[in-house]
This record gives sequence, C-alpha cells and structure tokens, in this order.
Amino acid sequence: MTERLAATPSGIATAAHILREGGLVAFGTETVYGLGGDATQPAAVARIFEAKNRPRFNPLISHFASAEAAFTQVQANPLALKLAEAFWPGPLTLVLPRTPDSTVSDLAADGLSSLAVRVPRGDAVLALLEAVGRPVAAPSANRSGRISPSDASHVLEELEGRIDAVLDTGPCTVGLESTVLDLTDPSRPCLLRPGGIPVEALEVLCGPLAYPETNADTAPLSPGRMLSHYAPSLPVRLNATSISPQEGLLAFGPTPLPDAVVTWNLSPTGNLEEAAARLFSGLRFLDSQQATFELTGLAVQPIPTQGLGLAIQDRLRRAAAPRPTDADKP
Ligand code: TXA
Ligand code: MG
Repeated sequence: MTERLAATPSGIATAAHILREGGLVAFGTETVYGLGGDATQPAAVARIFEAKNRPRFNPLISHFASAEAAFTQVQANPLALKLAEAFWPGPLTLVLPRTPDSTVSDLAADGLSSLAVRVPRGDAVLALLEAVGRPVAAPSANRSGRISPSDASHVLEELEGRIDAVLDTGPCTVGLESTVLDLTDPSRPCLLRPGGIPVEALEVLCGPLAYPETNADTAPLSPGRMLSHYAPSLPVRLNATSISPQEGLLAFGPTPLPDAVVTWNLSPTGNLEEAAARLFSGLRFLDSQQATFELTGLAVQPIPTQGLGLAIQDRLRRAAAPRPTDADKP
C-alpha cells in the first residue's frame, strides 16, 4: 500500500518518520517528484533501486534543507559557494568531492569519491528535509527509463504499492530535472546534464562551461545521460514540419501543425518555461491517447535552443533514441 500524504505539518511529520525508519517516500520538488530514501542507510538506498527497477546502480543526488547541511557532506570551493548562494534553493545540482567523514552510504554515491548535492525549492520539501535531518537520496520517482513524474498522481501510476508513501505537494513548477554541474575541478566546471537552470545563467558566474562527450558505448559520466531515457511507449519523431494521420502532435508555439488528430501544445505563446513545466505531462497525455486515435508515433515540432530549450531538447532526444531491448539488459 502506498499512502498519499497531504503536505500539512502532520503529513510532513509522517513522511519524515517513514524516511528515518528506512522507508521510501516520494515528494515533490520544483523540478520533478523524487523517490526519497535516507542516503545514510544502504538498505533504504537499495530499496530505491528495487522500486525503480533500475538495471544497475547509479549515483544518486543527496538532498538537503540548506547549503550548510549540504556542505557537511562535500568539500565546497569558492565557485560552489557562489553558485549555491545564487541558485539554492533551486534546480541546480553540484557534484563535489565527498568529505572524508561524509555519512552518505557508498551505495548512494555509487562508490565514487564525488557526491551530487542539491537544495530543492518548495516549502513542503524543505520542511521535510529539515525534519529528516539527514541527506535524502532521491532520483526521479518513475520506473527506470520512463517519463519523470511532475504530479503525485503520476508517481502513483508508476510506483503504487512499491513505495510507502507519496507526499502530495502539487504539480512541479519547473517540470524537468535539475541542471547537474561537475565542480570537482573548479577551474573547469563541466555540464553533466542540462536542466532547470539555463546554461546562460550559470555561465554569467562560471564562465564558459565544458561539456563531456556523450558516448552511448562507454560508461557515461552522468548516467542520467544514458541515451534512451524518459521514454513514452510510442516512438518519437523530432523537428517535425508535417504530420501523418497516425501521429499525435507535441506542438510548440502559436502555429501548431494543422490536421493532427490529437495535439498537446507545450506553450501556445512559445514560452520555454511553460514548455518545460508541461513537457512530461504532455508525453504522458499523448501516450495515453494511443488506443483512442490508433496512434503509431508522436511528432514533435522544433524547439528553440536558448534558455530551457536546451534541457527540453535533451529530454526529447532521449525520448526519441533507440530503446534498449531486453537482450541489452544486464
Ligand atoms: O531534479 C532532479 O535532479 C531530481 C529531483 C528529484 O531532485 N532528481 C534526479 O535524480 O533527477 P536522478 O537520479 O534521476 O539523476 C541524477 C543525476 C544523474 O544523471 C546522475 O548520474 C548524476 O545526477 N549524478 C549523481 N551523482 C553523480 C556523481 N557523483 N558524479 C556525476 N554525476 C552524478
Ligand atoms: Mg530520472
């Protein structure tokens, strides 16, 4: 049974109690819903991987109520302090060297000498993290390879019966995951995953960012970069300038392609923040229309590259990537 908790003081207290006891609670952040477990308890972290059906272990982001709490687990540097000051609480994850006395379990950190940390935005999630008083590991609360949840009901669709509770904090305002920035070498800040903080905003404080090569054949630096990810069950076609009668349309802007049998417009006014917030719900909605309209695929209109467009394009490229077959799974 998965309990649905309201984001009230008593719901938050119950959620914190479950987490401290080693249970799993999904909760909303400004980006997406996270599947939380106490990062200091290896058994709790193992349950996260099991609930998500992740094919292999991945390093997880540890979440904190404040920058001070985060910087007890990782070694800050002047750039990290500056970015934390500017963007926390908010959709930015920093990868930094783990402190020797970090209490985060090796399973949560995947045995790495670095750790990803973030302070999410939202009154309820911050109250929850404060009440837990320990690092909370939380990947997105979806089954592995599926669309990230931006609403409590999406979490239940994915994980009902597999987790102890979901704290219903309402729909996520940003709607796609945090930007992941590797600062282990502060002279060369490296963008591991585009996300809720646009690159342009980071570069004002960091200077130009480095980008690691994405190479599907080698172990990716940031496993969220695995090529097929965020996948709806229908195949996805990008940069569509025409549409077939069997395709659902993910539109963007004031001129959606005419004649689509079913359309979800990410933002009729062409606003990239609105589009980010509506992206995962749109993929879910169009997928759910498959039987009704006998859809065989989804077509996506072109999305601009600036601001949050980069993160939106990144998620859509993954949704469109060839899917791993069962034979590829370890
Ligand atoms: O917005 C978000 O970041 C959400 C919410 C719930 O906070 N969480 C999230 O977690 O997206 P997850 O596990 O789906 O993605 C974590 C990303 C992955 O790409 C992972 O590889 C990377 O962070 N990561 C974690 N630890 C890392 C490390 N030590 N070095 C490099 N990348 C790391
Ligand atoms: Mg994820």
